[in-house]
Amino acid sequence: MAILALSGSSALDSINHRFVTWAAAQIRADVVRVLDFPAPIFSVDLEREKGVPASMQALYDRLHAADGLILAMPEHNGGPPAMLKNAIDWVSRVDRKVFAMPTVLLSTSPGPRGGLTNTSHWAGLLPHWGATVVGAHAMGSFHQAFGDDGPTEPAFRDEVLASLRTLKTG
Ligand SMILES: Cc1cc2nc3c(=O)[nH]c(=O)nc-3n(C[C@H](O)[C@H](O)[C@H](O)COP(=O)(O)O)c2cc1C
Repeated sequence: MAILALSGSSALDSINHRFVTWAAAQIRADVVRVLDFPAPIFSVDLEREKGVPASMQALYDRLHAADGLILAMPEHNGGPPAMLKNAIDWVSRVDRKVFAMPTVLLSTSPGPRGGLTNTSHWAGLLPHWGATVVGAHAMGSFHQAFGDDGPTEPAFRDEVLASLRTLKTG
């Protein structure tokens, strides 16, 4: 099973990247960052004029080749960072069922809710793009809740590990 981890932060020094890198290591998933796929802001006019950018086709190809996905979605004003939403808009134009695989959503923030507003919303949305969401985990208070060996709260850690194992076993 090829599992892909998509790190959805627009920041180089990203706490969500740290969280998803730990998660990916638990099941030997490949990690890619949305930052590595720069693209213009989606518009139907630009798409008509120039087609899908090569970077977005490349991201789509990585997603299409995967059997499972870990998607780290930081929360910006209750939604995903604009860079991630933009990438989702582009790849959904290549194939509306771009997320047709078992998917684990992760998010974290320095605040207590950990991005739960956005994670809950996208757990409901992603099935429209084909995903089977097998887990959605928002880790609040990152700087207290995450250590050198991942989440420090045993029950939360076990829940995340259980979801990750589902990706591996189908
Ligand atoms: C524009 C902006 C909006 C934000 N909105 C939220 C929010 O709605 N909820 C939240 O928990 N944190 C919010 N934050 C704080 C982020 O959780 C914090 O910046 C976090 O480090 C983002 O994750 P990252 O480091 O992986 O990019 C916001 C940060 C920025 C820059």
